[in-house]
Amino acid sequence: MTDERASGEGGDGASEAQNFYGRWARLYDTIATLPGIGSWRERAIEGLALSPGDTVVEMGCGTGANLPYLREAVGSEGTIVGVDFTRGMLDRARKRIAAAGWTNVHLVHGDATAPPIERADAVLASFVVGMLADPAAVVEDWLALVRSDGRVALLDATRSTRTSAKPLDAAFRLFVAASAPPTRQLHYSTPPWKPLDERVTAARRPLEERAEDYDSTEFALGFVRLASGRVP
Ligand SMILES: C[S@@+](CC[C@H](N)C(=O)[O-])C[C@H]1O[C@@H](n2cnc3c(N)ncnc32)[C@H](O)[C@@H]1O
Repeated sequence: MTDERASGEGGDGASEAQNFYGRWARLYDTIATLPGIGSWRERAIEGLALSPGDTVVEMGCGTGANLPYLREAVGSEGTIVGVDFTRGMLDRARKRIAAAGWTNVHLVHGDATAPPIERADAVLASFVVGMLADPAAVVEDWLALVRSDGRVALLDATRSTRTSAKPLDAAFRLFVAASAPPTRQLHYSTPPWKPLDERVTAARRPLEERAEDYDSTEFALGFVRLASGRVP
C-alpha cells in the first residue's frame, strides 16, 4: 500500500531539497546501500530495540535503504511506514518493496515535520535532521508520537571532533558541499557543514533531555553519530 498524500512545506529549503533528491535519487541509492553504511544502519535499528509485530516509522526514508533492516526486526507481522517528501526517492523505495514482496511496508508522501502518523512503537531518522529548519521541535514531536517505552534513533553525519580525523575534515566538507542542496555555489556566506553540525546537535537535545537510556555512539572516526533513547 502506498499513501499518496500532499507534501507539506517541510521548513525552509524544502523544495530545493525535493528537487535535489528527486534528481539524484538513483545515485543516492547506490551510495546509501554501500556495504560499510549497512553496518551503521544495523546499529541504528538495534538502537530502536524493535520486537516482531512492532510498528516503526522512518522519517525521511529516502530510497528505503533502511527498510530491509527494519523489516527483519519487525517481521511479517509488524508494520513499517516510510515518510518522505521527495517523489523520486519514494519511487526507488517502492521498487525495493515490490522486489522484496513486502506487504507490510507502507510509504507516505508527506512531511516529516508534520508526520501524518499518530502512534508508533519507534521512530527512526537517518541522515535527515540536518535538513530540518527546527530539528529540536521536530524531534520533540516525534518523541510525542512514540508510545511509552518505545524508542527513537537518529543517525547522522557531521564533522568529527577527533584529532585523528583532522586529515579527512576537508574531504568531509567537500562531500557535504557536493551533497547538500543546492550544489551550485563555490562560495558560501554560511558553509553547509556549519548548519549541519548545529542541527544534528540541536536534534539530539530533546532526546538527551527527555528520553531514558540515552545512548550515543560514533562511527567512521566520529564523522557518523548515532543517538537513541527510550520514551518515558
Ligand atoms: C540524505 S536522505 C536520507 C534518506 C534515508 N533516510 C537514508 O538513510 O538513506 C534525506 C531524505 O530526507 C527527506 N526529507 C528531508 N526533509 C524532509 C521532510 N521535512 N519531510 C519528509 N522528507 C524529508 C529527503 O527527501 C531525502 O529523501
